[in-house]
Amino acid sequence: MAAITSLRTHLIDELSDLLDAENQLTEALPKLAQAATSKRLRAAFQKHLRETRGHITRLNRALHSLDEKPSSKTCAGMQGLLEEGQSMMKKTVAGSLRDAVMITGAQKVEHYEMASYGTARTYARVLGEKVIARLLEQTLREEKNADRTLTKIAEGTINEDAAEEWQSQDDETILNRATKWAGSTAGYASGQLTTRLHAAASTVGLARSASRKAQGGGRMRQTRRRGRDVTGKKR
Ligand SMILES: [Fe+2]
Repeated sequence: MAAITSLRTHLIDELSDLLDAENQLTEALPKLAQAATSKRLRAAFQKHLRETRGHITRLNRALHSLDEKPSSKTCAGMQGLLEEGQSMMKKTVAGSLRDAVMITGAQKVEHYEMASYGTARTYARVLGEKVIARLLEQTLREEKNADRTLTKIAEGTINEDAAEEWQSQDDETILNRATKWAGSTAGYASGQLTTRLHAAASTVGLARSASRKAQGGGRMRQTRRRGRDVTGKKR
């Protein structure tokens, strides 16, 4: 990698980085469009894919006007964002929730691009490269529009639908947990009941035997009493 020794070399480095970022994005966007459940979201990804091809053309023009050939640079930032987005998608079942997950990833990408195009446009202006500044400004506007479109789609229906999907899944989990808890509580209660019944039964047994003893004793006392008069003397 060439050393960055001036704002101009930094601009060239940033344009090369963006070029690779946009190329990576042209690979990812068709997959996102295919995975989208919402028609509006699919259309937004397809539209941005067409715009992204235009961004590549503008970057090549900008590098050409600086008499620079695009370097074979890998944009690690875009690579990381796309890998992270893909791994989040894999963990999510298809539907509104996955659409929301894809919007999260896509908006992170858009903001990364907005920061890159915004700074590159400003450097081009500072360096007096008006044509390049204008090209980058056009792309920046399209990135901002893409981000706004994603927000509108998310806030339109997807976020609420995703929340409902999550709620119904959560209700199911709560129901499963409640059933499990009720089952184990019933088991515990039944165990407790058995123990108490045993305890009660043995208490009743003891009481009966005590009662029998008491009754026997009483009979004996009665017998004894019957054998004596009121003074206690034997009859
Ligand atoms: Fe772009």
